[in-house]
Amino acid sequence: MAEADALDAFAVHAEYQVDDDANYQWRIARRPQGNVTPQDFGFHAEDIPDVGEGEVLLRTLYLGLAPVMRFYMQATARTGDAPLSIGDVIHGRGVAQIIKSRHPDWQEGQIVQGQIGWQTYKVSRMTAQEKFFAMPKNGLPAALGAGVLGMTGLSAFAGFFACGNPKEGDRMVLSGAAGGVGSMVSQLAANVAGCDVIGMAGGPEKCDFIREHGCSATIDYKSDDIGAMLDALRPEGIDLYFDNVGGETLEACLERLRMNARIVLCGSISEYTRDDPFKLSNYTRLRATDSIMRGFFVYNHLDRWDAVMDDLAGWIKDGKLKPVQDIAHGFQTMPRALANLYYGTNIGVQCCEVRGEPKEWI
Ligand SMILES: NC(=O)c1ccc[n+]([C@@H]2O[C@H](COP(=O)([O-])OP(=O)(O)OC[C@H]3O[C@@H](n4cnc5c(N)ncnc54)[C@H](OP(=O)(O)O)[C@@H]3O)[C@@H](O)[C@H]2O)c1
Repeated sequence: MAEADALDAFAVHAEYQVDDDANYQWRIARRPQGNVTPQDFGFHAEDIPDVGEGEVLLRTLYLGLAPVMRFYMQATARTGDAPLSIGDVIHGRGVAQIIKSRHPDWQEGQIVQGQIGWQTYKVSRMTAQEKFFAMPKNGLPAALGAGVLGMTGLSAFAGFFACGNPKEGDRMVLSGAAGGVGSMVSQLAANVAGCDVIGMAGGPEKCDFIREHGCSATIDYKSDDIGAMLDALRPEGIDLYFDNVGGETLEACLERLRMNARIVLCGSISEYTRDDPFKLSNYTRLRATDSIMRGFFVYNHLDRWDAVMDDLAGWIKDGKLKPVQDIAHGFQTMPRALANLYYGTNIGVQCCEVRGEPKEWI
């Protein structure tokens, strides 16, 4: 099916209306085969749950969308949150307000971000597994907690600074540069670390976008010959490659490393729908160039949360980091917003506005 037809199939039906009197949920109806389809999602309404001792009631404001969600639905995720059974509420982090609290550590009115799931209310014990963080009232919108000042931000920061060990003047290459993580890494690299970034994205519109967000030159991987473009734009080779896509792009960058280069393995989105795993043939280039290829998983970096969020918020206020979030409007649109990721229609972090900004914030 053509991309536009596949996305049009995610029509928002009249019965998907939501109001404040019930808890609306998207649950997994069927395991996706390859890409997600509308039939994989079930829309449900249930009573708003009561709050017991040690619990809070959360009212959802925003939800974030991430490529890993399809793996949770397919029960093939090997890291992070538990795989889903048919009928479960789909996993997802987001931003919510605590509207009732019988929990000693959390107050009514606080804005938090954490594992809410695809639902408009949640009763939570605020367990460590749900990874809730209070959002500081720092003058920035609560929406940023669903992406730039959330797990996407921590992923970009931890991957780039902790694993990439960037140096001023590094000749860098970044794939998935118009996505959530990529659009942050390009700006951190150019505006904070002083690297020269060549970004890869699909199509002229995205290439224009990444040029305005830190990239000095671009490769349109859908129409350009990646190897030839890397040879032309990086004739001296690559010091730092931040990899969001894996596959042949990773192989092409490995082939062109300078001495003491670094590769950050963030994601491998080009491999996610392949039946046979991609086999990297030239990893020995690391040996020949004294280089390092290092992976990371964002949940292993949570201990630095507060410091990272302070740094990111400071750079947003200084104008070094422009937050880019692609916001779908309405809880009804969640399945289509997820499909957007795999068709690459999002620019920046894909999120959904469920109720929007809070009236009060303590
Ligand atoms: N290691 C970790 O802890 C961690 C944390 C967060 C995310 N990740 C991973 O990091 C990657 C980026 O995450 P994200 O949240 O930034 O996702 P995102 O916002 O969906 O961005 C990913 C971008 O990849 C591009 N893309 C899609 N299919 C592609 C393909 N076949 N080949 C090349 N590019 C393709 C799309 O843009 P184009 O239109 O340009 O194709 C899309 O915008 C994902 O692989 C994700 O799983 C890892």
